[in-house]
Amino acid sequence: MQEEYKILFIGDIVGRAGRCITDKFLSENKDKYDFIIANAENASHGFGLTKKNHDELLEYGINCLTSGNHIWDKKDILQYIDESTALIRPYNYHKSAQGVGYRVFNNRLIVINLLGKTFMPPINCPFDAIEYLMNELKSNYNIDEMIVLVDFHAEATAEKQCFAKYSSTLGVNCVIGTHTHVQTSDETIIDNKLAYITDAGFCGSKNSVIGMEYEASFKRLLTSINERFEVETSSPYVLNACEISFKGSIPTDIKRINFEYTPEEGGCENEN
Ligand SMILES: [Fe+2]
Ligand SMILES: [Fe+2]
Repeated sequence: MQEEYKILFIGDIVGRAGRCITDKFLSENKDKYDFIIANAENASHGFGLTKKNHDELLEYGINCLTSGNHIWDKKDILQYIDESTALIRPYNYHKSAQGVGYRVFNNRLIVINLLGKTFMPPINCPFDAIEYLMNELKSNYNIDEMIVLVDFHAEATAEKQCFAKYSSTLGVNCVIGTHTHVQTSDETIIDNKLAYITDAGFCGSKNSVIGMEYEASFKRLLTSINERFEVETSSPYVLNACEISFKGSIPTDIKRINFEYTPEEGGCENEN
């Protein structure tokens, strides 16, 4: 099996601004891709994912929603996560956590979500988790004929780089970093077998601090007193994403995408 396969991976979608630009970009570009993945941990008012927004993102043309440490922020999630056929939460939560940590699509693509452990809330070791999971997948699927992609949701660059190199020895074909909301320019193919970028970036207001209003973020950092974050909604909006091309399961190219959009007055009026 050597056919070409092109995946779009969209960085953390933050609030209304992030959803708005994702809708705009996909309405013009979704037909270029065989499969579309987006990180949705911040899609509902910056924290978590409601059922309404989950359904809305799938209507835009997204095939798989990944997540991260914020996935539990909207309690609504517990009502529908087990019914979703597109959403995954980090695999390395305790086995009793609701939802699933990976999904298999059309016997062609496996998408896995994992959390890093450096500068992050305590979690099972992602290195142990990927080794265990790849062994399990190898015994259940012909993974040499499939693409295995990991959304590695982590803070530390060194941990992300080590995770990608280690994963390349286990049969993973692509590691896309998320969580920092800032796109890095280090996209590469490691040892001709794994496409990698430290962070895909985010989708939201360009005038924000990683998607949030400047004032509250600044006050919080200045005073060390917790301030309620608000999503920045002013335009222009930006969308950060990556386009990854494969021949069979071998990555042949990884490109960064940066798209900017200013909606017309009243163009994106749904709630935060
Ligand atoms: Fe995020
Ligand atoms: Fe995160």
